[in-house]
Amino acid sequence: MTADLFDDLEAPSPAQELLAPGAVLLRGFARDVDAALLQALDDVLAAAPLRHLVTPGGHTMSVGMSNCGPLGWVSDRRGYRYDARDPLTGQPWPAMPGLLRAFAVRAARAAGYPDFMPDACLINQYLPGSKLSLHQDRDEQDFSAPIVSVSLGLPAVFLFGSERRADRPQRYRLQHGDVVVWGGAARLAFHGVAPLADGEHALLGRRRINLTFRRAGLDL
Ligand code: SIN
Ligand code: FE2
Repeated sequence: MTADLFDDLEAPSPAQELLAPGAVLLRGFARDVDAALLQALDDVLAAAPLRHLVTPGGHTMSVGMSNCGPLGWVSDRRGYRYDARDPLTGQPWPAMPGLLRAFAVRAARAAGYPDFMPDACLINQYLPGSKLSLHQDRDEQDFSAPIVSVSLGLPAVFLFGSERRADRPQRYRLQHGDVVVWGGAARLAFHGVAPLADGEHALLGRRRINLTFRRAGLDL
C-alpha cells in the first residue's frame, strides 16, 4: 500500500546507531561527498584561518578552530559566545558554502530532525595529541535544534555521555565520513574527544577535521 511505502522512506537505515534517545550516529554518511566538503572548506579557511582559542580560564585549546556562516563560536578570557565577526580579521565570518549547509540539512533529516537550518558551522582541526574536554554545547539560543557533527580524516574516540557531567561517557570510534546528530532529549549531553592518535589519512594526512553545524539562533 502507498502509505507503507512512504512510511518506509523515513525508516532508519541499518547504518544508523542510536547513541541515546535523540542522538544518532550515521556511519559513513559523508563519505561520498568528502572531497567536495573539503574543497569548500579550503576556501573558508583561506579567509578565516584556523587558530587556537583561549578559554575563559586562560588555557590555550589544542584544537585549531574557525567558523563559517552568519555566526561563529569563539572563546577568550571574557567567555564563550557566538560572534558575527571573526575576531582575528574583524570581518564577518565567511559565508557557509551551500554544499555544506545542504549536507547538514540532509544529515539532520536522516537522523529525524527535518526542520534543521544551521546558522553556524564550527570547524575543528585535531592534530595528533589534540583533544576536547567533556562539555555541553549550550551557547546557542535555541536548544530545539540539534547539533550535526561531521568527522573527516584520522579516526577519533568520541565521548558521549548524558546531561550529567558525573555520568561516565560511552566511547565511540568515529571514522572518516561518520556523522553524529544529537538533539531532543540528548541536546545537552556532555561530549568530548580523546587525544587524537597519530596516523596517516589518504585525504587529510595527520589530521582530523570535525565540522559542527548549529542553530545558534542569536540576533547579533
Ligand atoms: C565539538 O564538540 O565541537 C566537536 C566534537 C568532535 O570533534 O567530534
Ligand atoms: Fe561540542
